[in-house]
Amino acid sequence: MPQKPDYPLLRQSVFEQALLLIENVLGRKGTLIDLGAGHCGFSRIANAMGWKATALDVRTARRPDLPPEIAFIHADLNSEAWNPDDYDLILCLGVYYHLDQTMQHALLRRCRGKPLIIDTHFANPAGTINGYGLGDVYELNGETGADFKEAPDLDENTRKSMALLSSFINPTSWWQTKDSLLQTIHDHGWPHVWMFDYPTIDEVQRSFFVCHTIDQNGGGISGTRFVPFGR
Ligand SMILES: C[S@@+](CC[C@H](N)C(=O)[O-])C[C@H]1O[C@@H](n2cnc3c(N)ncnc32)[C@H](O)[C@@H]1O
Repeated sequence: MPQKPDYPLLRQSVFEQALLLIENVLGRKGTLIDLGAGHCGFSRIANAMGWKATALDVRTARRPDLPPEIAFIHADLNSEAWNPDDYDLILCLGVYYHLDQTMQHALLRRCRGKPLIIDTHFANPAGTINGYGLGDVYELNGETGADFKEAPDLDENTRKSMALLSSFINPTSWWQTKDSLLQTIHDHGWPHVWMFDYPTIDEVQRSFFVCHTIDQNGGGISGTRFVPFGR
């Protein structure tokens, strides 16, 4: 039996690979905004890799002391406090699955065609067990997915102040199946998506979706799958 990889470490290395891929697409490093940055670890990695990073979060409780090169915006990502045109790359890591469908579509419309890295959970197809207390899979405005109840045992104010990893405004978030999410990304202007499968840790039920518009290998909507060492 292969040993289980350390998931946070693996996630970090997948992020680094994704940044390298976008650098290749752009032909240079550039500016990025890290939406829902939380601990700001990904902004710090990007900064160390030569990118100009801006972190944004609606909460500041987990924000560390940041070096002066990393800017921080204290705001709701659904607001006009940031402008996609100011950045070469948008990061949406661990936060897309804390948005409802309306917010997700608004975000994709704002970022249309711009390099975008989404790291998100997805719902499994109907009948498959999931570990996140998702509701049943159903169709919502042409998408297939399930509802994720955010901190269901807390009232709204407690969720906002105490559930630091959760959504802010919306009590319920929308988790699509992987194929449905790929279709949505495609429909919003990204023909090319690079994905990652975590071997031996299928229970994470999540992937990076690295979205860009330059065809590097003809992979298209079906996505280029980065197959990690050992598979
Ligand atoms: C699960 S944590 C992810 C942190 C980090 N990006 C990561 O991937 O490890 C989700 C973060 O998104 C933030 N967040 C949730 N909804 C938000 C919103 N509408 N606007 C900005 N930040 C939000 C939370 O405050 C929290 O810091």
